[in-house]
Amino acid sequence: MKHLIANWKMNPSTEEEAVEMAEDIEGNLAGYTGFSSVICPPFPYIHSVRSVLQNSNLGAQDMSPYKRGAYTGQVSAEQLKDLGVRYVIIGHSERRKYTHETLKDIGSKLRACVEHNLVPVLCLGSGLTASDDDAKIKSVLRAQMEEITHGIYIDSIFITYEPTWAISTSNSGRIPDREHVSEMVNFIRDLVDSNQIENSSVLYGGSINANNIKEFMSADGFLVGSASLHPQELKEMAAQISQT
Ligand code: PGA
Repeated sequence: MKHLIANWKMNPSTEEEAVEMAEDIEGNLAGYTGFSSVICPPFPYIHSVRSVLQNSNLGAQDMSPYKRGAYTGQVSAEQLKDLGVRYVIIGHSERRKYTHETLKDIGSKLRACVEHNLVPVLCLGSGLTASDDDAKIKSVLRAQMEEITHGIYIDSIFITYEPTWAISTSNSGRIPDREHVSEMVNFIRDLVDSNQIENSSVLYGGSINANNIKEFMSADGFLVGSASLHPQELKEMAAQISQT
């Protein structure tokens, strides 16, 4: 069973478009098997998107490490659960870049996420650059994993290998090939094993589209940004996943 996670980021611009997009995605994915899908809309659309989802799960793109109280602008795990959210993206490199999240902050969010029985979609690989070789990448992945998960009991987790340079909007000119993704996914699987986490799925994220998704089938799933805004593209991805 693969996992297909749609990260809409700060798109679209209206609630009406968000609902229409979710309906189109649901219609386009219907009939394909062998995967579970998660849609992560921006916070303001979570409620209305939920009302049209039939098969897909609901995810959020971030959450507060705090339970409740005077934290202006933040959204808590309890509030997300109340809206029907089951998955939360934690530590995305765009949050590290634009809101200066540290590994410690990400660890606190991870802790809050698991304490509330939400499934974290933890992103590893932020800050990597296109010129980093495999040895450097592995040492960064190991260090991030150790610092973020230190002292947290994790029952169930999705971890995404998502090097910053591979994200479509990074314009780095580099997209990893099949061998690279397979190697890093296996490396993360070993990290997970040594952390004694029972239920884990290791995903890949970065410039995935219908033309290249078959290269990344060594992963247990996919975190899809830009292409997830195009229901037809997701349909073509679902078709390929269901053939594997
Ligand atoms: P992308 O984004 O698919 O547009 O590269 C992936 C992500 O940032 O999660």
